[in-house]
Amino acid sequence: MDLPFDLITELERVLGRSAAAAGLPEDFSPDLRPADPRFGDIQANGVLAAAKAARANPREWAARLVEVLRADPEVAGRYEVSVAGPGFINFALTPEALLGWLRGFGSEEELSRAAGDLYRGRTWVVDFASPNTAKQMHVGHLRSIVVGESLCRILAFCGAAVIRDNHLGDWGTPYGKLFYAYRRFLDPERLKADPLEELERLYRLADEKSKQDPEVMEEARRELVRLQSGDPESLKLWEEVNRLSIEALEEIYQALDVRFDHYLGESFYRDKVEPVCEELTRLGLAEESRGALVVFHPEHPRFATQPFIIRKSDGASNYATTDLATMVYRVENLKADGIVIVTDSRQSDHFEQLWLTTRKWFEKTGRPLPEFQHVVFGTILGEDGKAIKTRTGDPIKLKALLAEAVERARQVVREKNPELPADEVEAIAAAVGLGALKYADLSQNRTSDYTFSWDKLLSFDGNTAPYLLYAVTRIRSIFRKAGVDETALDVGAATPPETEAERALARKLANLAPVVRQTVTSLRPHVLCTYLYELSGVFSSFYNADRVMVEAPEVRARRLLLCQRTLLVLEAGLHLLGLKTLRRM
Ligand code: ARG
Repeated sequence: MDLPFDLITELERVLGRSAAAAGLPEDFSPDLRPADPRFGDIQANGVLAAAKAARANPREWAARLVEVLRADPEVAGRYEVSVAGPGFINFALTPEALLGWLRGFGSEEELSRAAGDLYRGRTWVVDFASPNTAKQMHVGHLRSIVVGESLCRILAFCGAAVIRDNHLGDWGTPYGKLFYAYRRFLDPERLKADPLEELERLYRLADEKSKQDPEVMEEARRELVRLQSGDPESLKLWEEVNRLSIEALEEIYQALDVRFDHYLGESFYRDKVEPVCEELTRLGLAEESRGALVVFHPEHPRFATQPFIIRKSDGASNYATTDLATMVYRVENLKADGIVIVTDSRQSDHFEQLWLTTRKWFEKTGRPLPEFQHVVFGTILGEDGKAIKTRTGDPIKLKALLAEAVERARQVVREKNPELPADEVEAIAAAVGLGALKYADLSQNRTSDYTFSWDKLLSFDGNTAPYLLYAVTRIRSIFRKAGVDETALDVGAATPPETEAERALARKLANLAPVVRQTVTSLRPHVLCTYLYELSGVFSSFYNADRVMVEAPEVRARRLLLCQRTLLVLEAGLHLLGLKTLRRM
């Protein structure tokens, strides 16, 4: 039996035509969702509201609809359909249908091809990480990197052509001070040892000096003017600083298994901002206010009086102008149908104003309007409930955080499995340590703050990376011990799931599609995390209840199939989150 990947979307279609045949109103919306597993797999809640609105009897409508549904070839044999309560409709997948679904999707490519219906043919630009250059990254940069990478993978899994863009803050005022100090106080040895540390030191030095000495401030200003007016020598130095910055950033991205297609930072847009101001002025969207050029949004409670400033009173363009130019570039040159920008929630006002402005602007010019999502995230808190810091009160450097994660994981791995050879310990420690860091971040609803705790994120109990990575290796060891190659299962020999535990597991697996859909449409990876955690719980119950390597060949075949598909879905899910899975640990 061939079953569609996304059963709910498929049923929605079926219900559309059945409702008409059952004499329900044309605009009937079935409101399908995963059901309480005690009653079925999918439930339709829409009859109740529709009947109420028409002052009809909901149970009677439901009964009529069920009769039509039972005769539908895409329902008969696949679902047991029943009316429940005041007019809900329950759909329970038959064991044959469950088996059909399990047989249908046997690899990550097959799953992705099926999920690809969601975003096929659409281009999404994901702007993530996007730190400022000439500075080290600290813990505050972790979430944008980790969430952004996962969103790229999930969008691509769902069929989108994803363009990964690191929108570096690589232009503007800090370069004046940096260059002032670079020319006078550079320590080449330090620069070689740790470029970003040295650049940061130089910037701080100039910053302090300029506060005390107006002459320094003036010289830094002159440096900035030289750079911005395109002085070749200044540009050369700027390029050198940028090259060093990107090199150092890439070390961290590589460690985290994150990559970019472009580094189109703020500097890339420096010659594209003036036309933005001109166009917005010409269209009557921007106006002078107190010497600055601004866009008001009279319909908005706050932005009616607090405008979007696109050129400061000193004549300089700013973050807003750059982002407006970026919008145009992404739509016109990158052909984006969708744009995601991942930053912390402090930038919410900026992106709300950016989007309001873009909408009005693109409508007036006939540019295609992309879908736009500002993906915000909360703060990582220390155990004291405040933004996490080192003991001396400085932000924790990202590099140090990653090193500590691997070191702590190394200790855990050595304890758990002292016999492992040293090189394998290293690979496992990196996968577990960095995976734990990523997973702790992704498993929280991204809009909330979360409290960082090494013990919690490295624990083998609960909704953590070590627990899920271990679940993967445990299933692999089932195959290893049984001497069965999990990539060459006799899928045809399996019979439909029979026991309660088998069915519960098969159902949970078949529920992957709506989870992926919900994850990608809400751009919230924690939805997927919760599902994977639950799936491994359901698998444990199955494994405790039903022995896999029994004599009866058809029972063994179906249980092995369940093991294999659980392994597949767990690994596919963890890969979507940016984790590396392991064969043993
Ligand atoms: N560089 C900015 C920062 O560190 C983030 C940039 C986000 N992307 C954008 N298109 N504005 O806060």
